[in-house]
Amino acid sequence: MIKKIMESIREYKKSSILSPVFVTLEVIMEVVIPLLMARLIDQGLNRGNMRATWFYGIIMLAAAAVSLSFGALAGKFCATASTGLAKNLRHDLFAKVQDFSFKNIDDFSTGSLVTRMTTDVTNVQMAYMLLIRIAFRAPLMLIFSLIMSFSINARLAVDFLIAVPVLAVALGLIIKFAHPLFRKVFKIYDRLNTVVQENLRGIRVVKSYVRKDHEIEKFKGISGDVYETYSSAEKLMALNSPVMQAVIYACMLVIAWVGAKLIVAGSLTTGELTSLITYIMMILMSLMMLSMIFVMLTIAQASGERIVEVLNTESDLTNAPQPIERVKDGSIVFDNVNFSYAGDPDKLSLKDINLAIKSGEQIGIIGETGSAKSSLVQLIPRLYDATTGTVYVGGVDVKDIDLTVLRDRVSMVLQKNVLFAGTIAENLRWGNPNASEAELWRACEVACADEFIKEMPDGLNTMIEQGGTNVSGGQKQRLCIARAVLAKPKILILDDSTSAVDTKTDAKIRQGLKEVIPGTTTLIIAQRISSIEGADRIVIMHHGTIDDVGTSDELLKRNTLYREVYDTQMQMKGGQTHVETEA
Ligand SMILES: Nc1ncnc2c1ncn2[C@@H]1O[C@H](COP(=O)(O)OP(=O)(O)O)[C@@H](O)[C@H]1O
Ligand SMILES: [Mg+2]
Repeated sequence: MIKKIMESIREYKKSSILSPVFVTLEVIMEVVIPLLMARLIDQGLNRGNMRATWFYGIIMLAAAAVSLSFGALAGKFCATASTGLAKNLRHDLFAKVQDFSFKNIDDFSTGSLVTRMTTDVTNVQMAYMLLIRIAFRAPLMLIFSLIMSFSINARLAVDFLIAVPVLAVALGLIIKFAHPLFRKVFKIYDRLNTVVQENLRGIRVVKSYVRKDHEIEKFKGISGDVYETYSSAEKLMALNSPVMQAVIYACMLVIAWVGAKLIVAGSLTTGELTSLITYIMMILMSLMMLSMIFVMLTIAQASGERIVEVLNTESDLTNAPQPIERVKDGSIVFDNVNFSYAGDPDKLSLKDINLAIKSGEQIGIIGETGSAKSSLVQLIPRLYDATTGTVYVGGVDVKDIDLTVLRDRVSMVLQKNVLFAGTIAENLRWGNPNASEAELWRACEVACADEFIKEMPDGLNTMIEQGGTNVSGGQKQRLCIARAVLAKPKILILDDSTSAVDTKTDAKIRQGLKEVIPGTTTLIIAQRISSIEGADRIVIMHHGTIDDVGTSDELLKRNTLYREVYDTQMQMKGGQTHVETEA
């Protein structure tokens, strides 16, 4: 785990090394000072020698100044290195997630990915900062102070050595129990983040269904869980400090007691006892710091593991070793395809799918919600991979086609479509970065988006707000269609993309598509019969299987399912149903 995280240090290696170097120099200076102090007392003050007093006094001042500047440099390099590591880690995580397949993201959940990129990285940053500064400082200080105190009076210093293993065992025990608790805390954090995200994204729904109290209760429950687990972890960690202090103060008492006796007996000078006590204070401080570092490292270890889990996940959508860089035509074949989101053959979302679509054909897909219409079409641009069986595009297994080429040639308007913050033109150019203004307008005409864009204050340069909140559902759908058309794809998939558009406009869009991109295979998923009635062939999905395929006329004659839907919708006068979906 540590090795993997260290890979993200990169350009901050220099700072990471310089920081402990300056820390070492700082500590050496600091340790020398009490020694100078002892000289000043014994040779200067106690003998009334002013020259010696001045001499040692000035050297002490100089040492303090040097130590201070080394400390400042250490601090600077340490800050650069630790924030740099955090920056690189976030960057690496973000880049990794961009490569993830939908399945990878489903497995982690977005809430958890967000926690890992924020809180967990911050924990590692804090730990790294402590590690390259204090973690060097504390043991160095401990060792130097111990050496110094031994050189002053070995008999007294031995008392301290006994304390060290006692402390080590106590710390080890505390950490052993606290670590699993911290891992649990972060899991709950993930849930917390997921709940907050879901709530904020659906805040309009929450408000319109007056679910405020229910949502608050749900949040309270989870934040209560965080409180309980975190506080029991922290309570364990807090034991650390009293244990440490008890041991150290006991040592201090012994030394003051024995030291006083030694002075009376004449085998120890006052100066020596003064510096000895300073060294003991230093040892105490460094032990305290060490225990603090252990606390932070325990937390960071849990966080680090979670970061590495993401970094070590291989996207399960990989390119073939020698991918094919071309899509010959827009034909699609499903050959014995079975598909499960969990990759579990017992929980199939799609079963025994066999279907051949000719290039340029217009296919309508209809079926009740949950019949796996979206699942079916998502296999074409490899948003998910078939669990068994093969999907062919242009006569080639999709797994053998270069992923970028495939997604470029297959344009899909997702059922849950999104626009990004930016101008309308910027959003449209996702489809084709080099599109001219005239091409943008042409695509908008096809998608019947031109009318409302013209009415907007800045036309194509109108800003879309984050999440596309300043356009209506139907407008958003039309912009997404325009964006997809702009890519001039070989295959165009519209997943319930005109559900919020009125029937007349819907028909106009379909007519436009036929004229502008006539050779493009078009798959239209719809709730309304009228949206697909004119298609070359219609596929009826039912419980994850293909129930029937045929033209509207054929299906009317032989398929009861189709006829029922047809009759109900025609009774409602020309299918004027207005279905508001998740668009
Ligand atoms: N990301 C997902 N993870 C797990 N199951 C899913 C996911 N998306 C859809 N499903 C399940 O797959 C089935 C088919 O869903 P879907 O293809 O969206 O149906 P439709 O588009 O026809 O309404 C449903 O039972 C649904 O619960
Ligand atoms: Mg769907």
